[in-house]
Amino acid sequence: MNIFFISCQKGNEPLLEQEVMNLTNKKPTTGIGGVELNCSDNEILDVILNSRVASRALKLIKVFDISNEKDIYALAKQTNWDLYLTTEMTFKVETIFDSVAKTQFKNSVYISQLIKDSIVDSFKELYSIRPNINLTNPDVLFQVRLAGKHDKFSCTISIDLTGSPMSNRGYRTKFAEAPLRENLAAAIILNTLWDPTKDHLIDPMCGSGTILIEAALIKYNIAPSYLHAINAVNANNFNYWSMSKQPWFKANNLIEILKEKLSLIQKSFIENVKNSNSESLIEGFDNDEKVLKIANESISLAKLENLISISSGDCRTVTPIPDEPCVIITNPPYGERLGQESDLRILYYEFGENIKKNFKGHKVYIFTGNPDLRKKISLQTSKRIPMYNGGIECRLLEYKLW
Ligand SMILES: C[S@@+](CC[C@H](N)C(=O)[O-])C[C@H]1O[C@@H](n2cnc3c(N)ncnc32)[C@H](O)[C@@H]1O
Repeated sequence: MNIFFISCQKGNEPLLEQEVMNLTNKKPTTGIGGVELNCSDNEILDVILNSRVASRALKLIKVFDISNEKDIYALAKQTNWDLYLTTEMTFKVETIFDSVAKTQFKNSVYISQLIKDSIVDSFKELYSIRPNINLTNPDVLFQVRLAGKHDKFSCTISIDLTGSPMSNRGYRTKFAEAPLRENLAAAIILNTLWDPTKDHLIDPMCGSGTILIEAALIKYNIAPSYLHAINAVNANNFNYWSMSKQPWFKANNLIEILKEKLSLIQKSFIENVKNSNSESLIEGFDNDEKVLKIANESISLAKLENLISISSGDCRTVTPIPDEPCVIITNPPYGERLGQESDLRILYYEFGENIKKNFKGHKVYIFTGNPDLRKKISLQTSKRIPMYNGGIECRLLEYKLW
């Protein structure tokens, strides 16, 4: 058994906790920004490949208590660094402080340097050569966390397992303005009452199509890592994930286990898409042709052309398919990065009027970070779920029109 920390965007911890329980049958300890899980390497692979809302997965490799900075170098040196790095690999150390450690330790870069020195010196003593640092694209990233603990501090060193964040599904090349991060779009959908077996899903301001693509992945039970799985299996190269290059991973024969899991994900994607004969639709609209072109490219990179339809349209005139249950899930512009506030007030008002007139009997969810704009929709919310988009506090608003 090992201890892992799986991170997610603030506010999405309950969703991540549920996902981790579904994937491992284990209850994690939930904190701010993620969950801690005691599980096998095999189980953490399932989480890494299948979690829709996680951002990163870290494996805890060393914990020790310190009184001050002077203790760090010698205690870190007692780690068997050979398990995590070779002299040919590059690495980077990042340090974060909890609120208590922040008052005592001022310089996180200095702490990272102490750990870096202890790694470099350990290798030099053993092999006379050292692994190099790469600050932009390291083979291995170590995360150090200093936290207050009575009159001492604990120093936790973890190794990042994925390299590229888990939110990076691989269907995005060009960015439309203000796209949602993929794992945030998935979290928004999982926070709704959308029933994929019955309800048509409409995003009337679909932008680059993130909500539509994540909805298709959920509906057709496609693992969020499927594009990386397909690439890895086809190229017989598993180095997309940082863990695959790490000596402990190779020594425990986990590459073979990873290969098997990826082959299953690839097969199940082909099967699920081939056998998709759902009557409910996933449909997107946007009034910007340039953005729709990007959405089309993303949908095609995601290999989901047959499961999602998008077209030019205005959210103020869009209507549901007559006599069919429908859910709107959408992320209108909200002024932080896109759109002028006065125009947006009119847009929210007119969109709200369209919902009122045409979407009676349906479910409507609007994700926005601007409380003033949401007041322009003259409908009663039935729920306001707090969520975060980067640093921006947002709400997922539920309108019960049924
Ligand atoms: C915040 S972006 C949506 C981003 C999207 N969720 C994504 O992940 O890419 C809002 C979108 O609303 C579109 N939009 C603005 N006014 C609209 C209108 N009246 N009808 C339809 N789309 C509109 C914009 O073109 C923009 O693409």
